[in-house]
Amino acid sequence: MRLRPAHELLDEDHGSPAEIRQSLRELWWINQRLGGLSSWRRLLAVWQAAQPAATRALTLLDVGAGTGEMAAAIAAELGRRGFVVRAWALDRRQSHLGAAAAGGAPDRLVADAQRLPFACASVDVVTCNLFLHHFHDAPADPAASRLLREMTRVARRAVLINDLERAWIPYAFIRLLSRRFSRITRHDGPRSVAQAYTARELGHLAAALPGWRCQILRLWPYRLGLVLERDARHAG
Ligand SMILES: C[S@@+](CC[C@H](N)C(=O)[O-])C[C@H]1O[C@@H](n2cnc3c(N)ncnc32)[C@H](O)[C@@H]1O
Repeated sequence: MRLRPAHELLDEDHGSPAEIRQSLRELWWINQRLGGLSSWRRLLAVWQAAQPAATRALTLLDVGAGTGEMAAAIAAELGRRGFVVRAWALDRRQSHLGAAAAGGAPDRLVADAQRLPFACASVDVVTCNLFLHHFHDAPADPAASRLLREMTRVARRAVLINDLERAWIPYAFIRLLSRRFSRITRHDGPRSVAQAYTARELGHLAAALPGWRCQILRLWPYRLGLVLERDARHAG
């Protein structure tokens, strides 16, 4: 399927506050029922298998976090795996971060993912969910590479990415399913698949990061996982 870059309404906050809240609720439903949470369990298991057992305290930053519910779920999953986690959910829209009923952990932070307000190698694990597909490299503006460089700049141990895979089957499925959803999700859902990466494209993007070992996972249903681990030989 050909890549079709597009603007997504939620990203631009194109809707009333009630519409935005509804779309974020639907996104959380999709994350819960259609592979978001299960993909994270797989990604975390693959990453954890390569970790020394002794390092249990962990800081986590989720970028493009929306409501922060996924950051909370990832932190909780790490907690079940024996880690003691301090987590931040970062989004450029205060309105998104404030849209979920639950306050408290993770800490919410309003900022641009391309200019993270963190020092180099200051957060153990940097994640993003349904976010990378919003960024593509163009000759005049290598936005996706810049985002990955910024995430790896801040990450001390790993960058973990969970996103859609571009293919006709999920595209057709989400078009059908989107009829049940509100205006913003109906618009954004199919466009998200159409501008998602293929495994091969994701591999190319990650291969350009010196000092990081990369593993790509195919996850149910039509999700891709990217595990980037700092190569000990390059660690400062
Ligand atoms: C599709 S939503 C995904 C939200 C969340 N990760 C999830 O899975 O539910 C994309 C989010 O990225 C945020 N976003 C877009 N561009 C951003 C940027 N440059 N910096 C920080 N957040 C950004 C949007 O505000 C939106 O909340």
